[in-house]
Amino acid sequence: MKDIENRQDLEALMVSFYSVAIIDEVIGHFFTKVVPLDLDKHIPLITDFWETVIFDKAAYRGNVFGVHENIHTLFAFEDKHFERWVALFKQTVDELFSGSNAEKIKQRGESIATVMRIKLVHSVTDFKK
Ligand code: HEM
Repeated sequence: MKDIENRQDLEALMVSFYSVAIIDEVIGHFFTKVVPLDLDKHIPLITDFWETVIFDKAAYRGNVFGVHENIHTLFAFEDKHFERWVALFKQTVDELFSGSNAEKIKQRGESIATVMRIKLVHSVTDFKK
């Protein structure tokens, strides 16, 4: 199995991850009902995000925490949602890739999810401050 080496690999990973996430019984509704996603737009954006995180490319200029804070006001996130996201994310990476970037993306995914979870589910402070 090869490692994640370029944008194309990240995109393949995202296509795979969302194909599972959108039909998942624990978190699928976020992508289909809370914020119905147009995957043709979302996949390039999320691939930009991971290119920035994994390859230090200045591709993503959004506000990932602000976006999830908005989602939280529409349908409250719970621990179980983030736990599921992390499990599916790691599982998808492991099915497709192996190597240092595969390890890095699992680690970064989990740590960003943990920060989101603590700020949204367990904190009273305003996310945007
Ligand atoms: C329970 C876990 C999560 C759920 C249900 C979820 C759901 C969503 C949804 C519905 C959107 C679309 C929002 C919109 O277009 O208005 C979105 C956007 C996004 N998510 Fe998540 N998310 C989760 C966790 C994460 C984590 C842990 C990360 C990063 C490691 C992440 C990264 C992103 C990015 C980069 C976007 C695009 C933001 C933008 O529009 O600039 N998400 N998410």
